Amino acid sequence: MTARIAVLASGGGSNLHALLDHLATLGDRAAGRVALVASDRPDAGALERARHASIPTATIDPRASGDALLETLARHDADLIVLAGYLKLVPAEVTARFRGRTLNVHPSLLPAFGGPGMYGRRVHEAVLRAGARVSGATVHFVDEAYDRGPIAAQWPVPVSPDDTPDALAGRVLRVEHALYPRVVDAVAGGRIALDARGRVRGGPPLDDGAAFALGPDAARAIADLFDAQLVG
Ligand code: GRF
Repeated sequence: MTARIAVLASGGGSNLHALLDHLATLGDRAAGRVALVASDRPDAGALERARHASIPTATIDPRASGDALLETLARHDADLIVLAGYLKLVPAEVTARFRGRTLNVHPSLLPAFGGPGMYGRRVHEAVLRAGARVSGATVHFVDEAYDRGPIAAQWPVPVSPDDTPDALAGRVLRVEHALYPRVVDAVAGGRIALDARGRVRGGPPLDDGAAFALGPDAARAIADLFDAQLVG
């Protein structure tokens, strides 16, 4: 059965775009498909991208209760929630109902440089301010706190001495675009899951002693590593 994915986004939706591209490339092998794109911002670029792809859209009133969001998700038969640049906290009713079935991507190696107020450029500014030598992307299951749930996958991105927040953000975003869709598909297909104790299980190829590639080819390395599993 193909999982029905609800994407929640507040911004431009480049991760949504990467997900749609990846699922289209997988074709019949995709374990999920995007059935809804919802946003707290009626002018979010992600909604525009969804309309362009003929995907149903909805707006989320951030003042409304979690029940309203649950109703929207139920109306579209959502199996999995994928946060893609969604800036609001997901209500606890929703994270409870969708435990193990809600994912987020964050542009740092969590638990460093995450939490309330840590989004967008601020993350990369904080990384540079701290003098961290390595940043990266994290995909995690969502619980009731910002950026805290169990980590499903991470990929490191080196920080260079002359980096700017924008340059670092660009390199991390390329890694997000390669990593997130592959992890979403793995969760949709049950190859990565939370067990009853809330620990992440599965996750090949990352659990099989992955050789993490630092450097400009990180996105390529992610694609090679995951895609080899699909065809091999
Ligand atoms: C990404 O860096 C993502 O990690 C964060 O929001 C940023 C922008 O995402 N959560 P998008 O281009 O709107 O997908």
